[in-house]
Amino acid sequence: MRHQSKLAIRLHAILDRLLTRAGLSSVDHSAELPPDCFDTPHLKCWFDDLTFQQCYQSSITAAGSDYRIPWRVHQLLWCLNATEHLDGDLVELGTGKGFMMAAAASYFQQTGDPRLIHLFDLFRKPDFSGEGLLDLSKYYASTPNDVMQAFSRYSNVCFHVGDVRQTLPSGAPDKISFLHVDLNNWRLEIDCMRFLMPRMQQGSVILLDDFANRGFDEAFDQHTMFFRDLGLSILTTPAGQGIVAPLRDTNCLKNLSSAAFE
Ligand SMILES: C[S@@+](CC[C@H](N)C(=O)[O-])C[C@H]1O[C@@H](n2cnc3c(N)ncnc32)[C@H](O)[C@@H]1O
Repeated sequence: MRHQSKLAIRLHAILDRLLTRAGLSSVDHSAELPPDCFDTPHLKCWFDDLTFQQCYQSSITAAGSDYRIPWRVHQLLWCLNATEHLDGDLVELGTGKGFMMAAAASYFQQTGDPRLIHLFDLFRKPDFSGEGLLDLSKYYASTPNDVMQAFSRYSNVCFHVGDVRQTLPSGAPDKISFLHVDLNNWRLEIDCMRFLMPRMQQGSVILLDDFANRGFDEAFDQHTMFFRDLGLSILTTPAGQGIVAPLRDTNCLKNLSSAAFE
C-alpha cells in the first residue's frame, strides 16, 4: 500500500513534468503556493533584517520581477557569510537574469566582501536543443547586455558568456570559496563540478539550486550519488535547495576531473 502510493506520487510527478515541458499543463502551481513553495509557523526574523531586505530588493530590480523565493535568498546569504573568511572567489553556473547573484552582489557591497563573483551562462533564451527546460525560460536572460546592465553598479562581477563547456576552462578562478549550481541539467552540473571542485578551498560551500525541486527526481538521485561517492552529504532544505557544506577535507576532491573538459 505504502509502495503503491509512493509509485503513484512518482508517476504523477513524471506526468506533470512531461505535460509542463510540452506546455500542456493546465495547473499554475506558482499561483496557489506560498513563497518558496512552503510555509512554516516558525520564526523568520531574518526576513526583516535590513541587509536581507536590500539584497532581496536588488534581486527584484535585476530580474525585473519577484520570484517569491526569500528562503532561497536567505540560504544563499548564509552560505556567503559562512565562507567570507576564505581565500577564493564565488562562481555561479547558470545565472539567467541574475536574481540570486544580484542578492550576492548587493550583500558583498553592503558587507565590504572583496571576493569576485564569476557568472557563467549562455545569457540567452533556451532553444529546443535541450539546454534547460522550456517551462523555466521565464528565468532565462534574453541577451547578455540586459544582465550586464543590471549588474553595472557592481565592480566585482565577471561575466563569462557562452556554453560552460567552452567558458569554464579559461574563465574559472583558481580558488573557489563558494559555488552556486543552477544549470537545470544534472549531467552538465556534475561535469562542471568534477572540473571545479579541485579548486575549492577548505571550508568552502556548494549550493545546489534545484537539488530537491519537485520534478527533479533524477537530478536528486544523481547528485546524491555523486556526493556520496566523495564521502559528502547534502542538506536538503524545504525550499528545494541542497547545501554541501562546509568542505572540511578537500583532499578527496584533488583527483577529480571531467572528460567533458579535456
Ligand atoms: C534556471 S536558470 C538560472 C537561474 C538563475 N540562477 C537565477 O538566479 O535566476 C538556468 C540557466 O542555465 C543556463 N545554462 C544552461 N545550459 C548552459 C550551458 N551549457 N552553458 C551555459 N549556461 C547554461 C541557462 O542559460 C539559464 O540561464
